[in-house]
Amino acid sequence: MEVIETVAQMQQRAEALRMAGHVLSLVPTMGFLHEGHLELMRVARKHSDRVIISIFVNPIQFGPTEDYDAYPRDTEGDLEKARRVGVDVVFLPREQEMYPTGFQTEVRVKEVTQHLCGLSRPGHFEGVTTVVAKLFHMTKPHLAVFGQKDYQQLTVISRMVKDLSMDIRVLGVPTVRDPDGLAMSSRNKYLTTDERVSALSLKKSLNLAEEMFKKGEGSAPGIKRAITDLIESHPHTEIDYISICDPVTLEEVKRLGDENLVALAVRVGKTRLIDNCLLRVKQ
Ligand code: PAF
Repeated sequence: MEVIETVAQMQQRAEALRMAGHVLSLVPTMGFLHEGHLELMRVARKHSDRVIISIFVNPIQFGPTEDYDAYPRDTEGDLEKARRVGVDVVFLPREQEMYPTGFQTEVRVKEVTQHLCGLSRPGHFEGVTTVVAKLFHMTKPHLAVFGQKDYQQLTVISRMVKDLSMDIRVLGVPTVRDPDGLAMSSRNKYLTTDERVSALSLKKSLNLAEEMFKKGEGSAPGIKRAITDLIESHPHTEIDYISICDPVTLEEVKRLGDENLVALAVRVGKTRLIDNCLLRVKQ
């Protein structure tokens, strides 16, 4: 496994691999890798013959009161996990090279960023699209792999790739969960034992929404009320949003249609967790 730390070397390596006829995939990460990330790498491997991952805790996607400084980091552990899963290249760019003095460009997707996390984390998605566009230019992948746990991020990046005619296929991979249902996230590390129990209310809420939908419930406010009660019955929880929306535009719906997204953001203690599921009428 190669570890590359400069943009020039990364671009040269990616170009050489392309010229040699390899199909390149990129899994962008902020490190502190868990099974969810490793699954993205396994999927990347199935669709390409050279897997590149990037590890970069991107300062511009964190708000001023968010956890950039505290975000968990473990480069040595990450390299070991990446090696075990068969990654070919790990790209570890430095902040000074990513955002040198004078940096002033932003990539902004205008509409799908105006819902869900875009409302509670102003500027977050501009930080994500800007860094992902840069990582695409640095690693030159044919395909890029993202988790469906960050459903809105996947939607925003897919939109950017389409709108900017980037010649990159974007693949979404289903959420990987712990055996008790908690969606894997680097931020789960912050949860105390009690909070972790309360964190299960997110998945329980999605299960409840699924059950209600299957039984014919078509009112979004009705499902939201039931989910709110369920989450609020768990200690340490504070709901940021519960959204039932169109899975493409992410606009809120009042009545459920054939395809709907249920997306949640809940603060458990000091940790903000997100989760989602699609509710579909079976064909
Ligand atoms: O999902 C993440 O870990 C980050 O938002 C990403 C895509 C690596 C961009 O910094």
